[in-house]
Amino acid sequence: MMLLSKTSKVILLTVLTSICFPIFAAGDAQRTVLITGSNRGIGLEFVNQYAAADWRVIATCRSPSKADELQLIADDYSNVVVEQLDVTDAGSVAALAARYVDQPIDLLINNAALLGPRSDQAFNNQDFELAAMQYEVNALGPLRVTQAFINNVREAGPGKVIILGSAAGSNGYLKPPADFYSYRASKAALHFMAHNLAQELASEEIIIGLINPGLVDTRGLADIGPDDPVPEDYAQIVKLIRAGIIKLTPPADSVKAMRQLIDSLSIEQSGVFLNFDGQVMPW
Ligand SMILES: NC(=O)c1ccc[n+]([C@@H]2O[C@H](COP(=O)([O-])OP(=O)(O)OC[C@H]3O[C@@H](n4cnc5c(N)ncnc54)[C@H](OP(=O)(O)O)[C@@H]3O)[C@@H](O)[C@H]2O)c1
Repeated sequence: MMLLSKTSKVILLTVLTSICFPIFAAGDAQRTVLITGSNRGIGLEFVNQYAAADWRVIATCRSPSKADELQLIADDYSNVVVEQLDVTDAGSVAALAARYVDQPIDLLINNAALLGPRSDQAFNNQDFELAAMQYEVNALGPLRVTQAFINNVREAGPGKVIILGSAAGSNGYLKPPADFYSYRASKAALHFMAHNLAQELASEEIIIGLINPGLVDTRGLADIGPDDPVPEDYAQIVKLIRAGIIKLTPPADSVKAMRQLIDSLSIEQSGVFLNFDGQVMPW
């Protein structure tokens, strides 16, 4: 076996490092995700999982000082930064975008939404102020946020924009009873925003992932015991869960599946309404 001198070993090491390092550096570069509405529910779980996967996480929410669970995650992970962002407030969106100018964002997750009480969204009892706010948060919010951060997504070479849609906004999917009038309408509007964005950004190869997260147990309904009080709004769904007629997906499972789907999304799937398991959803 040929023995190398100390100088030859140093030269060889230097050459190998200079060849290999850029490759490893490019492959291992930390990716960045920005998530809206990340203080609870699915948004919080996205933070959890992307933080553990060593992404740089810009975790946004309306009131960081009240976001106790999110702050605990940020205490554990130095790669998580908590930022204030109200998706209905143009000033709040612009202020955050200004702080991140020229910084690549690989993934922009439009998660924030307003469901509102079921009882206030019935034919005979629609709260119209709530309906207007749902349109602001659910349909216009993602458009406003995507507009503000699209250059960051471009900078990422490009990155992807994710929009959490809902089966509740699908004409083809839902059956009676007729309920959640304004939430459903706001999500249907959001789906069209996503469709337009996909067409708008196709030439730049920016993928718009429109995803239904499934029926996700963000209210802990599966854990309500037989003797526990059930909030009136959820009485019907808890009955169906107990009867085994509907099954809720735990947030961790939904987010894990969505992360895999997001990773694999192709430009052909841009703007297509997909279930969290990758199946195409009807409009
Ligand atoms: N859970 C499901 O079964 C299900 C099914 C289909 C679709 N989705 C969609 O999945 C997404 C997440 O659902 P989820 O169940 O996790 O919702 P959630 O538990 O109701 O949480 C909604 C999040 O949005 C935030 N938010 C509300 N208004 C906001 C605003 N103006 N600006 C910024 N953030 C705002 C909330 O913050 P605050 O705490 O400050 O209110 C909260 O963090 C939503 O888009 C929802 O429509 C969920």
